[in-house]
Amino acid sequence: MAHLAAIAADADAFLTSLHDPEARGARITLADGSTVPRLPGYTRWIDAGGFAGFANLRWQRGTDVLPPHVSGHIGYGVVPQRRRQGIATRALALLLDEARGIGLAAVILTAGLENLASQRVIAANGGIAMGRETVPPALGGREIIRWRIAL
Ligand SMILES: CC(C)(COP(=O)(O)OP(=O)(O)OC[C@H]1O[C@@H](n2cnc3c(N)ncnc32)[C@H](O)[C@@H]1OP(=O)(O)O)[C@@H](O)C(=O)NCCC(=O)NCCS
Repeated sequence: MAHLAAIAADADAFLTSLHDPEARGARITLADGSTVPRLPGYTRWIDAGGFAGFANLRWQRGTDVLPPHVSGHIGYGVVPQRRRQGIATRALALLLDEARGIGLAAVILTAGLENLASQRVIAANGGIAMGRETVPPALGGREIIRWRIAL
């Protein structure tokens, strides 16, 4: 819904915001209202015979470590009608190649405890589960599993 509102307000600005490897965009507002600097990052749309979803990558320059408020280097989603066709697994594999190209030696991903599909996607790409955590209340308070993929 936030994306639809942003597109309605200024579609060009929305498109520009999807590709920001130099972190030129505005600061990010966290759930508790505080703001933090934007990290370099970008979003790819997944084309699998038509729009099928997105995958995005963000990183901190010069290190594999992310600031505490960032849940992971990579996120993705596949439209409901194209799920269970291996699309997210393939999209993550492609983005891992790009992360390697940027110079990262490892990436962190997190998935909700109940999100078995996402966890299978990560495991299929060499992910090692680091453990279960509760996200701080200011960031949503969810139960997650933290994964690491060596590149
Ligand atoms: C998670 C998500 C991206 C998976 O996309 P997808 O293209 O369907 O994933 P894949 O087809 O590559 O499937 C990967 C594995 O998950 C399994 N899987 C898919 N949906 C599943 C479900 N609902 N329950 C259990 N397993 C599931 C597949 O069978 C496959 O397992 P396998 O490799 O052992 O055969 C998709 O369900 C989605 O967009 N969910 C909402 C957004 C989201 O959760 N994003 C991730 C945030 S961490």
